Amino acid sequence: MVTLRAARQSDAPAIARVHVESWRTTYAGMLPDSYLLSLDVDQRTVFWARLLKPRGDSVVVAEDEKAGVIGFGSCGPIRPEEQPQSGDGWLGEIYTLYLLSDWHGQGLGRSMLDWLLQRLRARGLDRILLWVVEANPTRFFYEAMGAKVIARRREPFAGVLLDELAYGWSPS
Ligand SMILES: CC(C)(COP(=O)(O)OP(=O)(O)OC[C@H]1O[C@@H](n2cnc3c(N)ncnc32)[C@H](O)[C@@H]1OP(=O)(O)O)[C@@H](O)C(=O)NCCC(=O)NCCS
Repeated sequence: MVTLRAARQSDAPAIARVHVESWRTTYAGMLPDSYLLSLDVDQRTVFWARLLKPRGDSVVVAEDEKAGVIGFGSCGPIRPEEQPQSGDGWLGEIYTLYLLSDWHGQGLGRSMLDWLLQRLRARGLDRILLWVVEANPTRFFYEAMGAKVIARRREPFAGVLLDELAYGWSPS
């Protein structure tokens, strides 16, 4: 059985493992192999441990009773550099949402996203945005979750130029 809960600092190594594994499966062919191969679970563990200390309540983990942590997502106030140039005053941001590929298609992505959206709305951050690589078919998941394309950009990342779309949820 899989349950969702707020992350604890002790989850950092498990989140880092899912992070590296899911980046490799998600971005193969979109980001250079050399970059994906260089992702390092120990480095990511340090990153997540630092972040979870003050902000664990904005990070969700999906945990299977046998397999352990199989997915995670994070959210918070929009980072200034992620605000679209149109400057529409987006307030909240989904920073990450990743689930190991063996666990796709069971409704867990929807549940994790709902958890994050609720967390942001409870803080009054009710105009919520996320950026996704246009070539990533996951963008159709966000469309299925009711988000609308509200901006696009071309960003340098890991030595390549990525076309990205911003999806937004506004209060109705
Ligand atoms: C995004 C992700 C978390 C979705 O998780 P999931 O558990 O597979 O999705 P769910 O099973 O909850 O799907 C919910 C709905 O979205 C739809 N959906 C999911 N992925 C989809 C896709 N790629 N294209 C179209 N629809 C999709 C499902 O069919 C389902 O629709 P339904 O409610 O009508 O049946 C998962 O695909 C993932 O981890 N992807 C790789 C990582 C990634 O790209 N993260 C985003 C970076 S911005």
